[in-house]
Parts: sequence; C-alpha cells; structure tokens
Amino acid sequence: MIIAVDGPAASGKGTIARALARHYGLPHLDTGLLYRAVGLCVLRNGGDPADPADALAGCDFSDAMLGDEQLRSEAAGAAASRVSAHPRVRAALIERQRAFAGQPGGAVLDGRDIGTVIAPHADAKLFVKAAPAVRARRRHDELSARGLDTSYDRVLADIRERDRRDTMRDHAPLAQADDADLLDTTFMGIDAAVDRALSLVEARIRTAGRD
Ligand code: CDP
Repeated sequence: MIIAVDGPAASGKGTIARALARHYGLPHLDTGLLYRAVGLCVLRNGGDPADPADALAGCDFSDAMLGDEQLRSEAAGAAASRVSAHPRVRAALIERQRAFAGQPGGAVLDGRDIGTVIAPHADAKLFVKAAPAVRARRRHDELSARGLDTSYDRVLADIRERDRRDTMRDHAPLAQADDADLLDTTFMGIDAAVDRALSLVEARIRTAGRD
C-alpha cells in the first residue's frame, strides 16, 4: 500500500505520515529532507540556490548528509524551497523517491508533489493544510524547543514566502491531487489529526476493496 501525504510547511504532514507508517508497519520517507540536503549542499559549496547549475551540483549530496542536524535549520528549508523550483533538480531526485514508493509492501511518503507526480497511483492520498498563523505558531514553538531564537513574525513571514514559492513554481507545484482527501488541522491537536488521517485512509482502503 502506498500512502501519499502532501501539504505546506508545518501543516502536520510529517507527524501524520510517521504515525501512518507506524500504524501500518510501512517504511516512511520525508522527501523534504532530500531537497533540504540539496539546499544545504549548495550553501556549503558557497553556491546560490536560485542558480540552476549550482542547484544541480548540490544533487550530489552524500547519504551521510541525510542525518545532518543542520538539515532542520530554517536556512536549509529556505534553500530547499529555492533549489526545488529547478526542473533538473526535481528530475534528479524523482527516481529515488519512486523506487522508495515502489518497494514491495509499499511505503508512506510525505512532501509537496507525492500524490500528483511521484506516486499518482497511491492507494490513499492526504492533503494536509492549516492556517498560516497556526503553522507559524507550531514552527516557532518547534524552533524555540530546539533552543533556536527567532521571532514569531519572522517565522510567519518565512512560511508565507515559502508557500508562495512552492505554489507558484511551474514544475510540480504544491497542489492537492484531485483524488486526495483534504485534512485541515487548523483547529486540531496532533492526536485528533492523526485519528482523522487514519479514518480517511481506512475509508479509502475499504472503498478500493469494494471496487
Ligand atoms: O516541513 P517543511 O515545509 O518546513 O519542510 P520540508 O517538507 O522539509 O520541505 C522543504 C522544501 O522542499 C519545501 O519548501 C519545498 O520547496 C521543497 N519540497 C518539494 O519541492 N517537494 C517535495 N516533495 C518536498 C519538499
């Protein structure tokens, strides 16, 4: 079974995807980490994430980089959102993601274009969203808990900017697939959001079983 979970920054998609993977005993891939690795690699090479050649060179990141603490930084996130707009970067990462999705037994993947581009035939697709102010609050709390000192207003501005870039880009923009279930977590705690995600996936599996 393949489960696709897409949505904007701090919508709760990662937590939901991990919970679904645990529940069904499936491997999970946070595809944002791949774009973050490219972004971080470009920054460390002294390159410009907006430059197509610099961004493509960043795709040579080592597997060890996927465990790098710095991947979680806002700088890596912002660089990721810039490198991810280049079609050749997306193309360089596509096979790895499709191979993960296609492994025997299936997988859970979360990102921006899983239900639309990477796994359009996924058995269940969720599009997770929440109001920008709520997402900024969650991300700010997350950063503060990690001891990173940044203002709420700065985090909100970054989130709005990233939303704009991710939805406006020409290639594989952030979008809800036609056959994805929408899950708005604005007024939900994480447990309620995970419960709702599980019941949406279960309903999809039941419907598929009847076809
Ligand atoms: O959770 P958060 O949005 O902070 O970060 P992420 O999911 O790690 O994604 C970082 C950036 O990578 C996003 O802003 C997207 O521009 C890009 N990305 C993408 O283009 N396609 C994906 N499948 C996953 C991430």
